[in-house]
Amino acid sequence: MTSSSTTSYWQNTDVPTRLPGPPSLPFVGSAFLIGNPNRFYAVMQRWARKYGDLFHVKIGVDSYIVSSNMALSKLLFENRPEGVERPPMIARSFSSIDLVNNLFAAEGENWRKQRKAIAKSLSAHNLGKAEDMIFHEVQRRLDRMDQQIKASIGKPINFLPHSKQFSLGIISRLVFGDDFRQTAENDELSTELSLIFNTLASRTVAPIEYWKWFKLPKDRAFERVKNRLRRDITQRATTALEQLREQPKNHRPDNLLDGLLMHQLAEEPAQALSEDEVFANAVALIAAGMDTTSTTLAWALYLLGKHTEIQQQLRSELRIATQGTGRLPTL
Ligand code: HEM
Repeated sequence: MTSSSTTSYWQNTDVPTRLPGPPSLPFVGSAFLIGNPNRFYAVMQRWARKYGDLFHVKIGVDSYIVSSNMALSKLLFENRPEGVERPPMIARSFSSIDLVNNLFAAEGENWRKQRKAIAKSLSAHNLGKAEDMIFHEVQRRLDRMDQQIKASIGKPINFLPHSKQFSLGIISRLVFGDDFRQTAENDELSTELSLIFNTLASRTVAPIEYWKWFKLPKDRAFERVKNRLRRDITQRATTALEQLREQPKNHRPDNLLDGLLMHQLAEEPAQALSEDEVFANAVALIAAGMDTTSTTLAWALYLLGKHTEIQQQLRSELRIATQGTGRLPTL
């Protein structure tokens, strides 16, 4: 499902308000119907089933068109950034947790600059260098999971926490090049990120920005975690920058943080990322790669479990694609 802010076309017509959509109240719109922010996408899905693949919703005073129409969503993404802007709610939400300087909240030339830096850091060549790491990390976590599965034979297993560990383990290695505060016993990063993204989710649908005036205990906990993360990433970045300054211009970075830092060192000021952009993008990339991948994996396993014939088909396709090596041919 894709949401997009009302572009100039939509803004100059009354199309949005003529589309079907949930009931709305003055000032809060339909926010009161969303309830738990963690259910945001489930609620959108329920509304899509009820109102169709294109519906209108007001959240606060902002008006949105929500599309689950694949053709339209593709068109919207292809027309970024000039033709289509993201909902203002995205930049506002990132701003509420002091992480606004990232690709997902950027528009226009600023988006283009950040997109170029990130696409370069995520290039097939750089990801290809990570193949061994991904392979070993998956193997290590599968071995650990195997023991847990054997210990709970006959009982249902909630795979989502496992898939979160899987994707966080891999994405943090891609971004930082190592474990970054995750050990077998203590997955500190995962707890910290959950707190950060739960704060992002609840501030996104909060009717008033109360944290600007006073802080609840959960807001103080969030501030502590965010400040610690910023301090640690900045420390790493400072050391990495010193090493990168010694490297030749055509040096290929080993991880995404180094890739972003190479852009902080860019000679052309219009192309250079600021220190804050590097920090916000490092955290945003972990967010982009964690829940998306883990939820997809969990759903895939659940559906494969229900459809054993597809499971068989997938197994044979993988056997052919990996030619018995267990390695993907495209990485
Ligand atoms: C199954 C897994 C994934 C799903 C379903 C997914 C979904 C999406 C979607 C829907 C967008 C478009 C968002 C928008 O423009 O508003 C997007 C963009 C993006 N995703 Fe993912 N993603 C996944 C995995 C990843 C991973 C692993 C990474 C990074 C390591 C990543 C990095 C990005 C980046 C950099 C963008 C571009 C944002 C931009 O150009 O503004 N994604 N993804």
